[in-house]
Amino acid sequence: MRGPLIISGQDGSLMQRFEISFEGQAQRFRAAADRTLLASLVADGVTVLSIGCRSGGCGVCRIKVVEGAYRSMAMNRARISREDEDEGIVLACRIIPASDLHVRPLPLDPSGLLN
Ligand code: FES
Repeated sequence: MRGPLIISGQDGSLMQRFEISFEGQAQRFRAAADRTLLASLVADGVTVLSIGCRSGGCGVCRIKVVEGAYRSMAMNRARISREDEDEGIVLACRIIPASDLHVRPLPLDPSGLLN
């Protein structure tokens, strides 16, 4: 991984971008430090990850963060258990990257609630 990239925004502000890689995929993506991982991936044209409700409800953006740091918003416990979260299994629409990330997609069937 190459580490964060600092780019200048249209308003002159500096924005930090991180490199995102997926297990088994050579292609790399960029994600901003000020929006959810899923929002950045959608903006970067990602096709590796399923995109659903974008708000923590459906579970299709479920991933395991294999390497890297992130800030996490509250997870829907019908989709991500406390044990999952402790193991780095999260919803891409509910985390914000804080470093480069290496992730594994683990999508849930939208009809299949945990427990
Ligand atoms: S897109 Fe539905 S939970 Fe993330």
